[in-house]
Amino acid sequence: MLRLLEKAEQTHQLTKEEIVELLSEENYDEALFASADRVRRSFVGDGVHLRGLIEFSNICKQNCLYCGLRRDNKKIRRYRLTSQEIIDFAAKAVQYGYKTVVLQSGEDDSYDVDTMTTIIRQLKEMELAVTLSLGEKSRADYAAYKAAGADRYLLRIETSDRELYEKLDPGQSWDNRYRCLLDLKELGFELGTGCLVGLPGQSLESIADDILLFAKLDADMVGIGPFIANPDTPLAQAENGAFALSRKVMALTRLLLPEANIPATTAMEALHPQGRILALQSGANVVMPNVTEGEYRKMYLLYPGKICLNDTPAHCRGCITGKINGIGRHVATDFGFRNKKNK
Ligand code: 5AD
Ligand code: SF4
Ligand code: FES
Repeated sequence: MLRLLEKAEQTHQLTKEEIVELLSEENYDEALFASADRVRRSFVGDGVHLRGLIEFSNICKQNCLYCGLRRDNKKIRRYRLTSQEIIDFAAKAVQYGYKTVVLQSGEDDSYDVDTMTTIIRQLKEMELAVTLSLGEKSRADYAAYKAAGADRYLLRIETSDRELYEKLDPGQSWDNRYRCLLDLKELGFELGTGCLVGLPGQSLESIADDILLFAKLDADMVGIGPFIANPDTPLAQAENGAFALSRKVMALTRLLLPEANIPATTAMEALHPQGRILALQSGANVVMPNVTEGEYRKMYLLYPGKICLNDTPAHCRGCITGKINGIGRHVATDFGFRNKKNK
């Protein structure tokens, strides 16, 4: 097993069988985390990139069985920020020293291409790197966002298992989601994808396929988080995905994609009080603090136990900086592009 890890650390390659072996074995977890931590340090360094997250609409036309924003969930209050509110939050993100903002929403068609491109152009004037996370759109829409200046796009494949995906995301097609990822890559976005770990019906083999898919796509960013059962969804009774397993998936992703930007995801900290810090010590190099203010945070409830619901953006900025410094790392001051065009 140690030899396998050594090979992965040197060659950044593992077969599906080898990944499954590492995922099923628990005695070598610490060695795996240490290995991923070394690869992280030598390829992307000790700087942690902060991305200011703006959750601008919790309205979604999709109905994913795991997600609190699903259209059939009548228990949450819905909101949409105006373009001006989005820009105001971004201006504050600049004041807090964030170099990137991530605009995230449910699949909400009320923000049409003109609205989005106008917002993107204004954000680019503020010298921000702009990441979008708006779900599945047409190639033409993606091209328009790119032309307006958007730099990166996040779209998790959620699971590489087509059958499981189409069961959990009713009405959505796995092929179309994959098409979106290829389009985004061809259009020149930095491409972010990722998966949920511990979905009901998901096997270790299928998780190994997820990791190999990230490598095949040569993803620039990979967001991995445990599935957390949400009481307001059809999966209310399902078991939570495991923290340790998610951390291993993150570490293995670092071994296979040594230069990728890998966030220590918020969902990790929903399951463990030191979740993001442990993730940063086992492969991750990015944190995405929320810069949405006021009541909106509580309304963007993908899963229960989401952190920072009552905290202000200023508080989170200070909190996460303290945590990062506390483990001997520092907040990076460049844009944090994967391809190192950081000026
Ligand atoms: N638990 C954890 N993550 C979730 N997401 C949606 N619902 C849940 C849940 N119950 C994740 C999805 C989506 C991202 C925005 O949030 O992976 O891509
Ligand atoms: Fe909508 Fe995304 Fe939630 Fe699915 S996971 S219901 S697409 S916000
Ligand atoms: Fe929000 Fe710590 S990052 S309170």
